[in-house]
Formats: sequence, C-alpha cells, structure tokens
Amino acid sequence: MAEVIVNRLSKSFGKVKAVDDVSFEVKEGEMVTLLGPSGCGKTTTLRLIAGLEKPDRGEIYLGKRPLVITDRHICIPPDKRSMGMVFQSYAVWPHMTIFENVAFPLKLRRVPEATIREKVKEVLRLVGLDNVEDRGATLLSGGQQQRVAVARALAFSPEVLLLDEPLSNLDAKLRARMRLELRSLQQRLGLTSIFVTHDQLEAMVLSDRLAVMNQGKIEHMGPPADVYQKPQTRFVMDFIGQVNHLAGRTLEVTPSGCVARATKAGEVLSCLVGDKVGQHEDVTLSIRPEDIVVYDRPPGDRPNVCRCTVKVASYLGERMHYVVAVGEETLDVFTAPRQRFAVGETVFVELDPDSMWVWRADSKHRVEQSREGNGE
Ligand SMILES: Nc1ncnc2c1ncn2[C@@H]1O[C@H](COP(=O)(O)OP(=O)(O)OP(=O)(O)O)[C@@H](O)[C@H]1O
Ligand SMILES: [Mg+2]
Repeated sequence: MAEVIVNRLSKSFGKVKAVDDVSFEVKEGEMVTLLGPSGCGKTTTLRLIAGLEKPDRGEIYLGKRPLVITDRHICIPPDKRSMGMVFQSYAVWPHMTIFENVAFPLKLRRVPEATIREKVKEVLRLVGLDNVEDRGATLLSGGQQQRVAVARALAFSPEVLLLDEPLSNLDAKLRARMRLELRSLQQRLGLTSIFVTHDQLEAMVLSDRLAVMNQGKIEHMGPPADVYQKPQTRFVMDFIGQVNHLAGRTLEVTPSGCVARATKAGEVLSCLVGDKVGQHEDVTLSIRPEDIVVYDRPPGDRPNVCRCTVKVASYLGERMHYVVAVGEETLDVFTAPRQRFAVGETVFVELDPDSMWVWRADSKHRVEQSREGNGE
C-alpha cells in the first residue's frame, strides 16, 4: 500500500473543464471520498488516477513513483499502476463463473494457475462469497455481483482501490449493509481507497476524509465533521445536510465574526464569517436546522434570539421538524421529539452564533441547478 498524490491535475473535454487544477493526497490506508453533484468531475478524476484517461496537465504519484508527469511526458498505462477499480455497473462478465470472473485479471497478468486458485479463494472469502465460486455470474443478486466486482478488483493485490459509485444500483437496505461491509474490509486490509459518490450520507459513513467537488474543483477537503460543521464555501454548506438562509446586511465586521441584520425581520444577529465580507454589504446568513434551539419563553439575556410563530409541526420519530416564521421569513428547525409546540404558538428560537455563517449575497450557490439536472 502507498499514498496517492495528485498535483494540479486538469482535464477538459472540448470546452468543459471536467477537472480543473485539482490537488489532493490520499494517505496510506486512508479512505477518501470524492463527493459532489452530477457532472462535477468525480469520475473523470478517478479515471485519470486509474490511467483510463490522459490528463491535459498535472502529476500523479503512487508513493514516490510517478504515474503521470505531463511536463515530462510520463504516463504509465493502467495495467502498470497497481490500482483495482470497481465501477457502478460492476462489469461482471455474465458468461463466466464467479471464480473465472475473479481469476480473470490474474490470468491476464500470467499468474501461475496454483497461485490464482489460492488468491481467488482468499479474496472470495474476504467478500463473503466462498462456496459459490462455481456459480454462473448471471445467477447473482445485485449485492453478490457487487462483491464479485470488489473481489476481482482485490485479486491482484493492488496498492490502491478505486470505487466509482459501486453501491448505487442496490436497494436502500442492501446499500446500507454493503456500505458498512466495504468500510470494514477497507479498514481490515488497510486499503488506500478513493470512493466516488454523490450521496452525502454514504460519503460520511465511509470516509476518513471527504473532498467536496463543484465544477471540476475541490471546494473543501477534510474529515466529515469538519466539512459539515465548518464548510469552507456556501456551496459545501448547501450540498451537505440541510440549511436555512436569511437575507441580511452586515453592520459590523471583526476578524472573528460579524454582526448582521436579517433584513426583513430586522433581527440583529452575531455570526461567523464564511466569505470575506465588508461593512454594509448584502449577505446571506445560514444556519442548520439542528443548530437552532426553541424555547416557549424568552431565554434570558442571550444573543441571537428571535420571536417566532410555529407554522408547521411534524413528528418524524427520532425528531420534530418545525417550520417557524420570523417576520415574513421561515426557518426549518429540528428538535428532540419530546419538545412539543402547537401550530400558531409563539416561541423563541436561539440561533447559535457559532453555527451561524455569513456569506456574500452573490456567493456561489449553484446547487439547486445541479440537483435539478440530477433528477433529485
Ligand atoms: N468522454 C467524455 N467526453 C465529453 N465530455 C465528458 C466525457 N467524460 C466526462 N465529460 C464531461 O465532463 C464533466 C465531468 O464528468 P464526470 O463524469 O467526471 O462527472 P461526475 O462527477 O462523475 O458525474 P456523475 O455523478 O453524473 O457520474 C461533465 O460535464 C461531463 O459531461
Ligand atoms: Mg460519475
């Protein structure tokens, strides 16, 4: 196993910058997920690393070994890169048995027959498919095909495992189980892995670190909690989890935060600063529904408390989802299921200043568009 280093990688298709000056590292034994909306360049990045696509510019290293250095015209072919790849479609060959499917990459590499036998048995055991190796691959369920694809990618002991949306053809329950299985296998074997998905929950469950991509660029890379709680861009905050936005205007800006007025409601709120903002600028104030606390009476002398009216109350089992109105604007709020308020009731919400972010009003915010394009 070795680390993967990607340095200033770019790839265009005609006018589309599919991958735009992307740099990141995946440490030895680490699982990194490329997460982002459809068309943001995840698959292209993965295919560039696998060697299935040639970059316009950039460098890729496996440990100290250069796989690609465009300036020096170095580009190692895919079969010499020691990378196992699992695709969304599995690409399991239906006319072969499970054994033959998994043995195939080893045969290509002219591995001796006895070693193949041993190795195939070993990886099939790893993915929980021993005892069915002679079965034809057409008779397999989606989950089993997915395991065959993983076993085949692992058969030649690659240094890196690349997975492109390998779970998206499975039903929700199986998907959740395979997710945990993959994570456990990856951790047990200490596999350096890069996983691609547009599903944020999957990305958070699976990864040591996420790289959130938008339009060919990485906007934020970090551990899941970091990306969720301290998003570096408004796009990242919008793409992961739910978020409320209020239009506002800054009153006073300090290095650590700012005070802004949420225009329509006229509330004065303290916030953290996401983008660089100046005084008297139009801004968007953002906060996640779970970072809002609801009280039935004013909670004393605390900042960021607004008087609201409950508009909608929905019981969701593990939590309550309220929609409350602050003046003309509404906020989604999640509370513990035991906290009950009636529709029409006056409540007081506290918008935690440390979870409240200010972005420039014209800050990038293209997620709705991408989501529509994705049919989600
Ligand atoms: N072979 C190609 N020829 C032309 N354009 C391409 C090609 N491959 C990718 N693109 C374009 O490059 C951009 C990035 O595509 P890519 O497949 O990497 O996105 P993705 O993030 O994997 O999306 P999805 O979630 O839909 O799989 C898109 O605009 C896509 O249309
Ligand atoms: Mg893709």
